[in-house]
Amino acid sequence: IEDNMTPFDRLGEETLHRLIDTFYGLVAQHPDLAPIFPKDLTETARKQKQFLTQYLGGPPLYTDEHGHPMLRARHMPHPVTPTRARAWLSCMNQAMDKVGMTGPIRDDFYSRLYLTAQHMINTPDLGE
Ligand code: HEM
Repeated sequence: IEDNMTPFDRLGEETLHRLIDTFYGLVAQHPDLAPIFPKDLTETARKQKQFLTQYLGGPPLYTDEHGHPMLRARHMPHPVTPTRARAWLSCMNQAMDKVGMTGPIRDDFYSRLYLTAQHMINTPDLGE
């Protein structure tokens, strides 16, 4: 049984949803991130729940509704700088703390998000 479980099964839908809601609560307050996100993050959080469900091996909820994720292309309208990638990961790390994620589930998930976040960078930091 255990061996066939996906990371989505191990984490559980309830925890994943709590993680994402907590994450966007932090994004909304982050000075580097809030300006590039919509004021109302309800729809963003809904899509992220769909996306991260399939990213973790659960049902393909995102693709069923929106088609191929093409994540980098979908981020092109938004200036994702190295600073913003660090901020995004910092909010995620704090959200993982707040929902009490620990151990390999957390470490493996965070490592994948780290790599995906680097891949989303599409704009250099200006100045400094
Ligand atoms: C959408 C920023 C990394 C998954 C968005 C949006 C912004 C954004 C501004 C548009 C929100 C909206 O209009 O609703 C960033 C920044 C990142 C980052 C600054 C820093 C690296 C990631 C990562 C993932 C991800 C690592 C997945 C692991 C998504 C998804 C959407 C999205 C699924 C919704 C796409 C759609 O419209 O269908 N992101 N993002 N993002 N992001 Fe990111």
